Amino acid sequence: MPELNLDPPAPGVQPKRPPRPPRASLAHIPSTGDWPMVSEARFLSNTLAFAQRVHAKCGPVSRGWWMFGQSVYLMSAQANEMVLFDRAGRFSAKLGWERVLADLFPRGLMLRDAEDHRWHRRLMLPAFRKEALARYLEAMSPRIEAAVTQWGAKADLKFYPAIKRLTLAIAADVFLGTQLDAEIDQISADFTDLVAASVAIVRIPVVGRNYARGVNARARLAAFIRERIQQRRASDGNDLFTQLCHARDEDDRQYSDEEIVDHLIFIMMAAHDTTTSAITTLVYALAKHPEWQSRLRREAQDTAQVMQQDGRRVPTLDDLALMTEIDKVFKEALRLYQPLPTIARRALVDVEIHGKKIPAGTPVAVFPIQVHRSAEWWTEPEKFDPQRFSPERAEHRRHAYAWAPFGGGAHMCLGLHFAEMQVKAVMLSLLRSWQWTVPAAYVPAYAYAPIAKPRDGLPIRLTQLSG
Ligand code: HEM
Repeated sequence: MPELNLDPPAPGVQPKRPPRPPRASLAHIPSTGDWPMVSEARFLSNTLAFAQRVHAKCGPVSRGWWMFGQSVYLMSAQANEMVLFDRAGRFSAKLGWERVLADLFPRGLMLRDAEDHRWHRRLMLPAFRKEALARYLEAMSPRIEAAVTQWGAKADLKFYPAIKRLTLAIAADVFLGTQLDAEIDQISADFTDLVAASVAIVRIPVVGRNYARGVNARARLAAFIRERIQQRRASDGNDLFTQLCHARDEDDRQYSDEEIVDHLIFIMMAAHDTTTSAITTLVYALAKHPEWQSRLRREAQDTAQVMQQDGRRVPTLDDLALMTEIDKVFKEALRLYQPLPTIARRALVDVEIHGKKIPAGTPVAVFPIQVHRSAEWWTEPEKFDPQRFSPERAEHRRHAYAWAPFGGGAHMCLGLHFAEMQVKAVMLSLLRSWQWTVPAAYVPAYAYAPIAKPRDGLPIRLTQLSG
């Protein structure tokens, strides 16, 4: 085993970087046989088909390419558990994600490991607790109501761009505390450029290219945040920005100005496209399965009645908790169209999985997207069947990591409850106001990477509900 110092490093210090292993040390692992360019193209054009083909050809452990570096692909629930749960700290998230995220989203939580990661995450936790979520919900509800009402102005709506506009406006408001429309528009445009740049293959800031636009967008966002830090440190506010400015640990240490910039930009990235993807898939699934749409509508109307009886116009967390049927549909939507199709890591020590040794220094990627459609864990895996998540069937309990849209272990999604809350708040409003359909034969082509979305933007037809 190579010599490595695995003592937990202090905040700001990252584990040592093991050298990349020689290519010959992976020769015992079945190869996908793809050339790097072909592999990237196949991965990006249809990640699900790519993963299923690789799994069928090579089994759960294979070697291929990712961002032009050799990488080991892991496709099983057991591998998800070993890599994500990782209690012994044998994998680095920072070294796994840095090729994609380090230049545009540096020092975010996913780019930190061990004690350094624990310190940064712990300091952030209060901003994701129930009391904070309740305040975010109060702030976002009027914005949701207004957007959903406006959607109906057009009978035919491209749902994906519409919900993306809304989630970005919510993020600018709830995370950054920005209410001015002009500022929200600029922040939204910058975020769109930034996220598009993170998957650019050519990473040279040539003017006009995706990557250059992303670099400029990050600089503008960082300046926007930096200019407001002193004022936020000195004031109260319910937005995430102000909370990060006030967060202190037991020794009274707090985030530096630059850490606040990095964390905020990272969280906005982690939050908006994923939730946009999940809500879009939910809306698609309910258009294809009107019986489920009616069922969820009844649930939404019952919830609205409770709100009305208590004289509330905007929902509370307790109101949203009454909506339990939607939990199953949400889980099924995430199973079939997982927003983040792969999760990257790098092995810090030699490890073994499914009888194959993976040497220290190897980049690895787990593919929950493949496991989510594996007949090993799911009955009729291609079928949309939310009842598989009912307490009686509980297929997701067959293995703790067979369903892993939010990852797991130390890096498990910090915004999981925020996402659930936002999805329910949007659906409560949408289900009460509109019925929506797609043509019977309609099946959109999905782009799965970097974040799952229907390529055509999901055109739907809205009809106003009477009464
Ligand atoms: C349906 C929506 C979402 C999905 C599917 C999702 C998925 C994920 C996944 C798979 C990870 C783990 C990545 C890894 O292990 O390397 C993650 C991490 C993270 N997510 Fe989410 N996410 C969603 C929404 C959100 C929201 C709304 C927020 C913020 C409000 C958020 C904030 C984060 C953060 C900060 C991390 C990094 C956690 C850490 O490294 O400790 N996510 N997310």
